[in-house]
Amino acid sequence: MLILDGKIASAAIKEQLKLEVEKIIEENKRSPHLAAILIGSNGASETYVASKVKNCSEIGFQSTLIRFDDDVDQSTLLNKITSLNEDINVDGILVQLPLPKHINEQKVIEAIDPGKDVDGFHPVSVGKLVQGMQTFIPATPFGIMLMLEFFNIETKGKHAVVIGRSNIVGRPMSILLSSNIKYGNCTVTVCHSHTHNLKEICLQADILVAALGKPEFVKADMVKDGAVVIDVGITRVEDITAKKGFRIKGDVSFNEVAPKTSAITPVPGGVGLMTIAGLLKNTLQAYHLKQ
Ligand code: GUN
Repeated sequence: MLILDGKIASAAIKEQLKLEVEKIIEENKRSPHLAAILIGSNGASETYVASKVKNCSEIGFQSTLIRFDDDVDQSTLLNKITSLNEDINVDGILVQLPLPKHINEQKVIEAIDPGKDVDGFHPVSVGKLVQGMQTFIPATPFGIMLMLEFFNIETKGKHAVVIGRSNIVGRPMSILLSSNIKYGNCTVTVCHSHTHNLKEICLQADILVAALGKPEFVKADMVKDGAVVIDVGITRVEDITAKKGFRIKGDVSFNEVAPKTSAITPVPGGVGLMTIAGLLKNTLQAYHLKQ
């Protein structure tokens, strides 16, 4: 059984991106610039955004973190996005989700210039993805595709089962795996909260992507021998024995599932790190689109 180590794969991608930034700097050009907007003080969102900013600086990207309080007006947020759209020194814009309830998430996503939509959530980006056009691919599915490529996992003709249909992960993942691309060409089944016979369907999966956000949901009796298992879950579960008071759990019961698989991603240290690699690659792409 192969551990699909996100540390190794993301480090290799970051190293390559760092070299590309060095080349840009040598040509006396400005480096790529990501602007991240964080609203409120959700612990997980804080951690993710801090990690995105840190990773930018590690490879030589510029980054700007813009923070708003939980009770920020929607119009203030939209005005900020407009000014970032117009700022010629900003290549990529992301608004960390989820947003407070009084803010219309769809309006915020649609306010971002599709040319700077490094999260790939804008309907223009999603439409292009569905049509197999060049676009920004949402960072988590993009990261998973980069991981399949890095470890050269054969996907052609395989049955991929994706649990979860979110706009951030499940839906775009299903599109990518079914696309006519190198690490695609799967037959894809998308499962969700209304799926009947979930266990039976999962047992048919050659590639199982768990993206439902329920800790340790996938058990050994749901996984076929030799399957490739991709665990997208990152849930904080209270644990008073842990230093921070919580532990990160994936959607897969790793200890019982791993021995049955041919390859599996760990949590932490798997897909989460690849998500950042996907975002960084999108930011460089946005930069090049503007040059
Ligand atoms: N919240 C959870 N995942 C993501 C992501 O990939 N991008 C943004 N902006 N918010 C998220």
